[in-house]
Amino acid sequence: MPDLEEEKRSAAYAALDLVRDGMVLGLGTGSTVAYFLEGLSKKISGGLKITGVPTSIRTMETAVSLGIPIVEKWGRIDMDVDGADLIDRSGNMIKGGGGALLREKIVAHSSDTVVIICDSSKYVDSLRKAIVPVEIIPFGAEATAEKIMSMGCTVSLRGEGTYRTDNGNLIADCAFSRIEDPQALDSDLHRIPGVVDTGIFARLADRLLLGINGEVRTVAFNRRV
Ligand code: A5P
Repeated sequence: MPDLEEEKRSAAYAALDLVRDGMVLGLGTGSTVAYFLEGLSKKISGGLKITGVPTSIRTMETAVSLGIPIVEKWGRIDMDVDGADLIDRSGNMIKGGGGALLREKIVAHSSDTVVIICDSSKYVDSLRKAIVPVEIIPFGAEATAEKIMSMGCTVSLRGEGTYRTDNGNLIADCAFSRIEDPQALDSDLHRIPGVVDTGIFARLADRLLLGINGEVRTVAFNRRV
């Protein structure tokens, strides 16, 4: 059985080797990024100077507690370091398991380089079958969910509709049994009024650092944006 925690930790620490003095870093969200923040904090104690842009309140609070300087307004971000729920061989991802997809996507789109850190369970041939988290506004949430369901998935509102994102919205977890074209599905979902954004990050990764079999494998992608 792979030691997934060790894989996460080793991938996160490999990302630290890409950090340079003076960088503005996107700080993703999740348990893998937590290891990156821990390592970053140690480097800052050793004299490294960086600024972080957190993708969630949770990451912001962790960063502050670890002495990582943060800003919420930025000109440009040198490198975004984030996790993923799934990533395929083309760099398509499903994100939002932790509910932070909207801020994560904004930060990824603002970044010169997007580095994804994962354990081996996240790396898949394709995203064919997946639960796609979709951020929707509370007004008319049931009607929005109905529209999403007409696209061939089952939908459950996270926390039976009680869960709120950092932006005050809901998450509809949409179970698709077959995703042919992630980019097209993302575009179709965006056409439904009430949908704010989706957890489909179509070819948004530049580089994957994958913890696997006691080592960290690097996979490079051609990012679309
Ligand atoms: C947060 O909303 C997600 O996009 C996370 O990046 C993703 O769920 C990965 O989290 P873990 O590192 O905890 O698996």
